[in-house]
Amino acid sequence: MSGPAEPNDRSRTAKAELFRRAAERGADYIAAERGVPVVPVGAEHAMDLATRLAAFDLDRPRSSETVIDALADLGRDHAVRSTGGRYFGFVTGGTEPTALAASVLASVWDQNIALPVMSPLASAIDERCVDWLLDLLGLPATATASFCSGASVANLTAVITARDALLAAADWDTATRGLAGAPSLTAIVSAEIHVSALKALRLAGIGTDSIVAAPVDGCGRIDVERLPPIDGPTLVVTQAGNVNTGHVDPVGAIVDEVAESTAPVWVHVDGAFGLWAAASPGRRHLVDGVERADSWATDCHKWLNVPYDCGLVAVADGRHLRATMATDAAYLGSSEGVRSLMHLGLQMSQPARAIPVWATLAALGRNGVAELVDRCCDLAARFAARLDEAGATILAPVVLNQVLVSFGPGAAGDATTDAVIDAVARSGRTWMGGTTWQGRRAMRISVSDIASDEAAVDAATDAVLGAWAEFTRGPDRKNIVE
Ligand SMILES: Cc1ncc(COP(=O)(O)O)c(C=O)c1O
Repeated sequence: MSGPAEPNDRSRTAKAELFRRAAERGADYIAAERGVPVVPVGAEHAMDLATRLAAFDLDRPRSSETVIDALADLGRDHAVRSTGGRYFGFVTGGTEPTALAASVLASVWDQNIALPVMSPLASAIDERCVDWLLDLLGLPATATASFCSGASVANLTAVITARDALLAAADWDTATRGLAGAPSLTAIVSAEIHVSALKALRLAGIGTDSIVAAPVDGCGRIDVERLPPIDGPTLVVTQAGNVNTGHVDPVGAIVDEVAESTAPVWVHVDGAFGLWAAASPGRRHLVDGVERADSWATDCHKWLNVPYDCGLVAVADGRHLRATMATDAAYLGSSEGVRSLMHLGLQMSQPARAIPVWATLAALGRNGVAELVDRCCDLAARFAARLDEAGATILAPVVLNQVLVSFGPGAAGDATTDAVIDAVARSGRTWMGGTTWQGRRAMRISVSDIASDEAAVDAATDAVLGAWAEFTRGPDRKNIVE
């Protein structure tokens, strides 16, 4: 029996109906993921996109239904299909089904998790989820971790925290004295450091004059024997998962090496994707020793296949993180000893990023996450084996989810490699990016989408080999989706 209509009943009904409409269109998108170009390429795509966007105008608002239908059509025709198993460019991950559904619920709830009082539900989930992540990633259970938008921000959060802690160890309090006139800090970084960590250093006031590159080996790992000497307070930035090769710095050996120094040293690990090797019992050895660092950055939106905007920073001694990040005002009413995310990161208002992560971990369990990691690694090895067999050169041993492949030596080989990358993109069957590895052009294949399987990898390998044949033996249009 329904009572008298309440003032907001109509708008609530309209909102629910619109939500169902969007969900329906989202489901259609998922169902149609196979069979359409992975990446829309070509001038006609760009033109169509521009024309359809131009049909909307700030001064001529349309109904929500019209907008949502038009948006769904745009996604159907123009979205990069990075969640259908056929995309191997960048380490983007796809969307694990539970993660996707949970993120929809999280959007409906729209919880702000700056303070526990703003969402006891999301805060409880967050606390549980962070414990699970520390466990899966093999990090100390006593570490303090908090979600952020991605590994770039996780790196920045850790670097600023490290800077303040190192300066505090040199009797300099940045909170009161700022940075002008502070003791000098050095950053020793992998010569192969990810650009986001370099940006973090720059934003933290550690310029290139204070950065020393640590030499790396042929796989892109820091060579401990050639680690630059420590001279004064030093931040060492390492990585678990070189963005090209997937190889991991010997973090444990680096921690041992810098422990000899009398100066304060902080070791940070950028483990945006590579830290997930710890979740697989068969691959945890690859990140042995990483747990002895002082801070870590990783992403859930990459290898865990949670939708975007989901990074994690962890700091071994959470007091440092709080010292750098905490800020307060009477109206906030936050209390000591209560986990408040606004005191553990850069953001105040923030979405409950833990919700889709918690749901994914609850659904996959420990074994499911290990299987996800293992499957991606096995598929990367499968790519490499067939490409190698066909005569391409695999530029670094495949240890994780990354494959670097070249289609010939010298300038001619570089040109062939670029041509193959381009032809594969035009084929619409799959997508891989390019890179330069130790002076040589390479196709960079990353396997991180939970939807990828052997059939997808074999079809993608066929597309690559077809494109290579097209380039070397003249036009072979078989691999082109017309
Ligand atoms: C090793 C590494 N660090 C950091 C990042 C930056 O992560 P995000 O894009 O989530 O900010 C990436 C992204 O590709 C990465 O591969």
